[in-house]
Amino acid sequence: MTDLARFIQGLPKAELHLHIEGSLEPELMFDLARRNRISLPFASVEAVRAAYAFSNLQDFLDIYYQGAGVLMTEQDFQDLAMAYFRRVAADGCRHVELFFDPQTHTDRGLPFRIAIDGLLAGMAEAERTLGVSSSLILCFLRHLDEDAAFTTLREAEPYLDRILGVGLDSSEVGHPPSKFARVFGAAGEMGLKRVAHAGEEGPPAYVREALDLLHVDRIDHGNRALEDPALVARLVAEGMTLTVCPLSNLKLCVVDDLKAHPLKRMLDLGLKATINSDDPAYFGGYLGRNWTETAQALSLSRAELVTLAKNSFTGSFLPPGTVSDHLAGIDAYLSSNS
Ligand code: ADE
Ligand code: ZN
Repeated sequence: MTDLARFIQGLPKAELHLHIEGSLEPELMFDLARRNRISLPFASVEAVRAAYAFSNLQDFLDIYYQGAGVLMTEQDFQDLAMAYFRRVAADGCRHVELFFDPQTHTDRGLPFRIAIDGLLAGMAEAERTLGVSSSLILCFLRHLDEDAAFTTLREAEPYLDRILGVGLDSSEVGHPPSKFARVFGAAGEMGLKRVAHAGEEGPPAYVREALDLLHVDRIDHGNRALEDPALVARLVAEGMTLTVCPLSNLKLCVVDDLKAHPLKRMLDLGLKATINSDDPAYFGGYLGRNWTETAQALSLSRAELVTLAKNSFTGSFLPPGTVSDHLAGIDAYLSSNS
């Protein structure tokens, strides 16, 4: 392990943009397919990996929704979550705010409670056995309609005390945030935090809509906000956290080369950026690899890495006292490493 990788591994950090269904590794996909007697359109783990060549977001989503079809029982979701938490704990991650896509599962006939109960069991196990805390963000699929999102929000009502917030994901272009203004309004009234994917492939106007119409507390991705200087100034002034996903951006051709990734530019502009993995099983790396590859490609300084780690906690929805504890943990790590 290089000095840089060792430094990053030891640095306490949080992950704020992770789709749990996107952590389904091909090996587990095959195990679950066997367990649930589901046939896969792939002959082997290698054939699945070979199919992970995407030229845009939709290419990826088509295969991602297909892969999620092997998840059938609470145990499957618990196993999926624990496999992710083991990987990310080894990367020095202390806290995760994870997305799940209930409609991906209810649309194929699974009761709403299967995914959420299994994930909550995995999250409790991770906290107990790995010391990684986590909370759950329910994402609406934006390629589906507003009624479907409202149905999902109603199904979530019995779980309100165990859901931190709502998010918006899936195919961005053609499905602007405005389509979900009312359901996000209802979620806000229920006391839920609000986040939305915006500016991954969609234009800066979608980032503005997420702010003005969805009243989001964080922007997921936000890359294309950089095309609009006034929007950048606003995001800086509001201290808005961007959950940036470098290896995802590379795999989905949002950037051509990690060396051209805008993360460093975002920091230079004063934007509150964080590093995240998005869908690590599909994009070639968990949190640690996103950090090390980006740090290397952009020659990030130790000071910039520390800023990114601090942003991951101050941009989280943890209570202020817990955020302070994590920040103190970062300072203690730096003193023991100097
Ligand atoms: N669902 C899972 N990953 C996603 C991404 N990167 N963008 C939009 N929807 C997603
Ligand atoms: Zn995402």
